[in-house]
Amino acid sequence: MIDTELIIALRNARFIAALTGAGISAESGLATFRDAQTGLWARFDPRELATPSAFARNPKLVWDWYAWRRERVAAAQPNAGHFALAELERRASDFMLITQNVDGLHQRAGGRKLVELHGNIGRVKCSREDTLVERWEAPAGEVPRCAHCGAPLRPDVVWFEEMLPEHAVAAAEDAVRRCDVLLVVGTSAEVYPAAALPAHAQRSGAIVVEINPNTTALSAAADHVLRGAAGAVLPALVAALD
Ligand code: OAD
Repeated sequence: MIDTELIIALRNARFIAALTGAGISAESGLATFRDAQTGLWARFDPRELATPSAFARNPKLVWDWYAWRRERVAAAQPNAGHFALAELERRASDFMLITQNVDGLHQRAGGRKLVELHGNIGRVKCSREDTLVERWEAPAGEVPRCAHCGAPLRPDVVWFEEMLPEHAVAAAEDAVRRCDVLLVVGTSAEVYPAAALPAHAQRSGAIVVEINPNTTALSAAADHVLRGAAGAVLPALVAALD
């Protein structure tokens, strides 16, 4: 049940922002990170796969793990939650989507005003020079190398112990400072600095709405909590604006 106060706030909002996490892509068949049993970090050790030192120790293992995830992403389709946020972008006078996801499904659903805090798994860059690489080749079983400097190539995602892209953090902070409503969808709200954005929005006067089937680190502080799957709740929320 979506309460009337929230619908009025959304109708009157000049600027709507959304912060998304892995949960919004769960209904597209992509695993989250921290859900018990099914989460990637329940099955794989992030220290062996998602840190610069893991890549230095075993680039092949890390490259292959991201290649496997890239294939899963390429085979997935955006779901009703992604499409509802793209629809909200079209309806709102001002809108910004901040995502922690690297899967590009928001863009494939038609989302345009968005900032990727943790990079994008579809892009590859040189591990030394940080330059994006469009095409690469490697002998079977080897990690491809930078044509310019010879360093191994890596996915353009943010690993633990790394800084987020500065322009992305600046755009996200600007959005939470200026928005009237922030929808926080499918994130455990445990990973910083993204997890600090809802409190930042509230301090700047925004209403924070959590959309998640489970209790999270944000739940107690959220102004509204809509318990349910993003693919059901977000289309209902957009429909309620008519
Ligand atoms: P988590 O796996 O920590 O949290 C996923 C959240 O999605 C949980 O709160 C679930 O309850 C919720 N959820 C599950 N199914 C859902 C559904 N159908 N609809 C809505 N919500 C659902 O994922 P993130 O919060 O995205 O970082 O994790 C943040 C970061 O930690 C990731 O970006 C990644 C990871 O380490 C990096 O790789 C840098």
